[in-house]
Parts: sequence; C-alpha cells; structure tokens
Amino acid sequence: MKSLGILLSGRGSNFVAIADSIDSGRIPETKIGVVISNKADAAGIATARQRGLNALVIPSKGRPREEHDREVVAALKQHGVDLVCLAGYMRLLSPWFVQQFPHRILNIHPSLLPAFPGLEAQEQAFAYGVKVSGCTVHFVDEELDHGAIVVQKTVPVLDGDDEHTLAGRILEQEHVAYTEAINIVLGGKSTVIGRRLVTNVTSMRGTI
Ligand code: GAR
Repeated sequence: MKSLGILLSGRGSNFVAIADSIDSGRIPETKIGVVISNKADAAGIATARQRGLNALVIPSKGRPREEHDREVVAALKQHGVDLVCLAGYMRLLSPWFVQQFPHRILNIHPSLLPAFPGLEAQEQAFAYGVKVSGCTVHFVDEELDHGAIVVQKTVPVLDGDDEHTLAGRILEQEHVAYTEAINIVLGGKSTVIGRRLVTNVTSMRGTI
C-alpha cells in the first residue's frame, strides 16, 4: 500500500479528485496518509477532516521558508508518505524540501508548461490569445513550475470563453490528469532521462 501526502492552500478540488480516484479503485493500492494546508481556512482541509483523513494545518505566514518546510517534511515522513502531491499549494518549496523527496513530489499547474508559469496561468493564457491551453502535472524541482513533465492535457480556447469558463474546463482536465500522473509514478515503470519521462525503457538511468 503506497501513501500519498497532499499539500494544499485553498479549495482542494484536485485533492478531492485524487481521494475519489482512490476510493473508486482508479488509483489502486494507495491511501492518503496526510493532508497538510499552510492556511487554516482552506476549504480543502475541512473536506479532508470530513472524509476522516489525517488533516494538519501548518501555518506558513511570517515564518522563514525552510523552518516551515522542515515542519511539513517531518509530518510527511511521520505519516510514511511515498509521494507528495501539491494540489493548489500556493507556496514555493525550498531546495532542501525538494531534496528530501527526489522524484517524489508532483505539482499540477493550469497551463501547458513551459507557457504561463506562475500565478493566474489561465488568465495569462486567455489574455495572450492562445487557441489551446491545458494543464500539466510535473515533478517539482528547485525552479518554479519547471520539473520533468509527467502528464499534459490540452483544452481548446473557444470563441465564447472568458477566463472563468476556460479555467473551469481546464480544471476538469486537471482532475483527470492528476490520477493518471500518480498511477504513472507509482507504477514504477517510468524513467526520467534529462527532462523526458519515458515508460518501459531498459536503461536504468534515473529510474523513478
Ligand atoms: C488549480 O487550478 C491548480 O492547477 C492551481 O491552483 C488551483 C487549485 O485548485 N495551481 C497553481 O496555479 C500552482 N501554480 P484546487 O484547490 O481546487 O485543487
């Protein structure tokens, strides 16, 4: 049985999608070990409690990044987490945090990276006038929205869209993409070569 650690800061719809995938067997032999929020009022943490999961608030405001990260990592390790899933966790991880879980931290971002990293990616894409956007699940490395890509889903931008309708359709795809990405990573048949994640290769270089 593998254990996930979920980090979130807000609504938590990606967390709920992951939890539903586990409950329905779409992510097999896996449990959520702990859900951690850096914000006490995050809706996602209330949902985690309602679902009977271990749910922790570790406030980040006004604290040095690495001090906060050390507390979060200690909680993840205490709960025996195999894979950390950032699900709307609006906080940069320190290099030290990243090094604690090599190729074991995923993030979801609402654009086709490397386009539109950072905040309000859907609004950035809409304002730029792209015809196709989407979402990306990627490994977390020491740079913002940067690590090797695990799954991407495309979403067309329609003439009648505004940034909200576009964000809503991207979010539907995020929920599908995260389940796929977790299964790929926990499946253990993939390898990162340079920036490329490839499946079923014979080389053992960088097997995840
Ligand atoms: C999602 O759209 C996620 O991709 C985005 O925050 C939202 C969280 O929603 N994350 C980022 O922009 C990270 N750079 P949720 O709380 O309902 O899962």
